[in-house]
Amino acid sequence: MKKILVTGGTGYIGSHTVIELIKLGYEVLVIDNLSNSKAEVIDIIESITAVRPHFEKIEMCDKAALANYFSKHSDIAAVIHFAGMLQVAESVENPLKYYHNNMFSTINLLECMVAYKIKNIVFSSSCTVYGNPTQLPVTETAPVQKAMSPYGNTKQMGEEILENVAKANDINVITLRYFNPIGAHESAKIGEIQHGVPHHLIPYITETAAGIRKQLNVFGGDYQTHDGTCVRDYIHVVDLAKAHIAAISRLLSHSNEAKLEVYNIGTGLGYSVLDIISAFEKATNIKINYQIVDRRPGDVEAVYADTTLAEQKLNWKTVLSIEDMMRSAWNWEQALAAKK
Ligand code: UD1
Repeated sequence: MKKILVTGGTGYIGSHTVIELIKLGYEVLVIDNLSNSKAEVIDIIESITAVRPHFEKIEMCDKAALANYFSKHSDIAAVIHFAGMLQVAESVENPLKYYHNNMFSTINLLECMVAYKIKNIVFSSSCTVYGNPTQLPVTETAPVQKAMSPYGNTKQMGEEILENVAKANDINVITLRYFNPIGAHESAKIGEIQHGVPHHLIPYITETAAGIRKQLNVFGGDYQTHDGTCVRDYIHVVDLAKAHIAAISRLLSHSNEAKLEVYNIGTGLGYSVLDIISAFEKATNIKINYQIVDRRPGDVEAVYADTTLAEQKLNWKTVLSIEDMMRSAWNWEQALAAKK
């Protein structure tokens, strides 16, 4: 079976994707610098799938180390590139750290792919490239807006580098623009690890439900949306993982119609912050203590995906509901509490 290299494969989205790849019989190689994840994730993946992916701790910014890795694994059929730093606020405080890490890792990876003639890559991008879209649902042809953070800029620059590299080299690219990934694997053995106070909505809700946080602040109640709070397209991380499988099979079967293809990966549904609180309360029977406070700088009012292209070309669409997302997020929070 074909070998797939997953960079950042012990992270949140990466680990869920590794499980889905293994389930379909791919041979999976994982590299990660473990800056935001633990090597034990590999044991957990083995416990879930009964297959142990090959793992090496590699710092992708270290070109020599990465090149040495590729010299040993030159028969990789495709790469899924998740590795990267992803905290918006941290990127504003320390832009050079973000530019250094996210850009050098991507450039080093692409140089190795060219050198070892590895022809396929799936790249993790984000709906953040659309900024505050003027038309909803947002399609892939919507203009890319000036990035609101260095993190967002590394995604945009990554997309541009890949576009240029695909044109000049024998490399096929599928860029996936994720909307808001949430939830966790049904086993509750893997999920998103929080370091300190969560920045994202769902972990903040689950930590409030668990009593770790006293109250959820809802950022802004005066947006032009159905209830005044921001609207997002939340997608279950397992559905998102499966979009990568669809992208890989499109590339490996040479079904791609262009050397670079870009897809929105969301559900196509927009939920407000208050809708999410209600969905969580309904799915878990736990009331969330919240208050509406000022807007958070940099938040867009509403964004949700037009997923027609992914449905037609990748033959993929989401199957898990908002209740599934809430229940799995809560199970994960409880599993984390049980470990402490
Ligand atoms: C964030 C990033 C985005 C990134 C995406 C996925 C920012 C500004 N954007 O998206 O670049 O691609 O994650 O990693 O960080 N909210 C509250 N209270 C909270 C937390 C959030 O009301 O305590 C609201 C926010 O205002 C927003 C919604 O919940 O309306 C979702 O927020 P969040 O989970 O942080 O994701 P995004 O900001 O959409």
